Amino acid sequence: MTVESDTHSGHPPDLMNKLVSFAKRRGFIFKSSEIYGGVGSVYDYGPLGIELKNRIQQLWWREMVYRHDNIVGIDAGILMNPEVWVASGHVGAFSDPLIECRSCHRRFRVEDVPVKTGGEAPRSGSAAPGGAAPDSAAPGGVAPDSAARGGAAPSDADGAGTLAKIPEEEEEESLSLARQCPVCGTRGQWTDPRNFNLMFKTFMGVVENEAATVYLRPETAQGIFVNFRNVQDSLRQKIPFGIAQVGKAFRNEITPGNFIFRTREFEQMELQFFVAPESADEWFERWKARRMRWVESLGIRPERLRFHEHGPNEVAHYCKCAYDIQYRFPFGWHEFEGIHNRTDYDLGRHQEHSGKKLEYFDQAANRRYVPYVIETSAGLSRTLLVALADAYDEEDLGGGKKRVVLRLSPALAPVQAAVFPLVKKDGMPEIAEKLASELRGSLNIVYDAAGSIGRRYRRQDEAGTPFCLTVDGQTLGDETVTVRDRDTLVQSRVPLRGAGAYLREAIAASAPGAD
Ligand code: GAP
Repeated sequence: MTVESDTHSGHPPDLMNKLVSFAKRRGFIFKSSEIYGGVGSVYDYGPLGIELKNRIQQLWWREMVYRHDNIVGIDAGILMNPEVWVASGHVGAFSDPLIECRSCHRRFRVEDVPVKTGGEAPRSGSAAPGGAAPDSAAPGGVAPDSAARGGAAPSDADGAGTLAKIPEEEEEESLSLARQCPVCGTRGQWTDPRNFNLMFKTFMGVVENEAATVYLRPETAQGIFVNFRNVQDSLRQKIPFGIAQVGKAFRNEITPGNFIFRTREFEQMELQFFVAPESADEWFERWKARRMRWVESLGIRPERLRFHEHGPNEVAHYCKCAYDIQYRFPFGWHEFEGIHNRTDYDLGRHQEHSGKKLEYFDQAANRRYVPYVIETSAGLSRTLLVALADAYDEEDLGGGKKRVVLRLSPALAPVQAAVFPLVKKDGMPEIAEKLASELRGSLNIVYDAAGSIGRRYRRQDEAGTPFCLTVDGQTLGDETVTVRDRDTLVQSRVPLRGAGAYLREAIAASAPGAD
């Protein structure tokens, strides 16, 4: 897989390709079912990857649920009554207009095919626009353009929907002539845009052709909306209040790519915050500011963060107003979290379709209304990519040597500390093993006695481990150990008995939260 890089982003050169191999080599992220050639844009999280994902998720939960007395969490099913997706509008509107190159039959989102005015050479076989690499044809044929690769034109039978009419037809025609296929280089040979629904379908029931079609949820939000009444009744929540959820979502993306940036299976961390309609704008601003503060508190460089307001053509069908938090990835500025004013759209639609009242009764004002919703919707896997891309660093040591360091905030580090004996004699391994086992339980600790101390430090630098504790000759006399800081390389001495408190304090100090 090759991924494009933006040379002005301040990241190390060719970072995305480096990250792909680094993440595999160090056990962060593997291609799903790799021994069978993988499956279209699905990834598995290895031992370090799941730790990093857990840290992000736990910090998010702490920030969104534990810090508020009016926000609670739920965990809804991935499979829901299919009527949910009709009511939410996803069956009708959750689709991407795609165009197909008549020459090589690859399909792209319209906005991903740049308009070319010059006579550039085609980038045959390279990444698709927006940096999305066309997946190699996976056994099982899960890649979205697999039908096109086989030469078949899009048809309703293979998942295509109805032709989408574009308003500015003339302008679109001339744009179409100027569009050049990023794969085969053919210019101006495009089909009209067609809509493809992005939801995965499956069957519920034993006999496939008699079973009901159900969908794998494309967002976690709907599980919250349909539980609005349950949560409100069971916990007697008063507006404003929120419901948070973290979980898997699935989208049959047409142009997945850029490693884990856009995948077909991913995780979201979503909050739906229910408010009175007249206070929605104020709450929107509050959540917008608060979410940016939280992202910064993870240690992400502020100069690589910005808001992007959705224009009228960008906002989703359920939204009145939307801002993205974007990160400057090596392949450009892109969203990894959205803050949306969903109005009373979702609760209103579910009320209409289910026939169940989803109103709120404000006793003090003796008033009944369908609440507005301010949503904060973050991609967990995409936030993980932000953390990795921002933390990966190569330090030039001179003489052609370099130190790879993952400068993750200690609060995010998969391994929080490593414990080494300086040498494997004089009782040092025994003291170090005992220290490691005492620290385990509250912290994720690695014990390593293999190889030179320099090599052991390098291994931990790559894993992003912020602290390395070394038992040395002095430990035998005064019961202190060295603590080496990954970023400053400064080594200080702490008492053996105080090492746990030292680490916990340093980690807590690196996760101040949003307040
Ligand atoms: N409930 C609102 C919602 O789902 P969205 O903008 O479609 O809004 C929210 O998605 C976040 O989910 C995005 O900012 C992104 O981080 C993540 N996300 C969406 N599609 C994704 C995909 N195919 N792969 C990885 N993350 C994705």
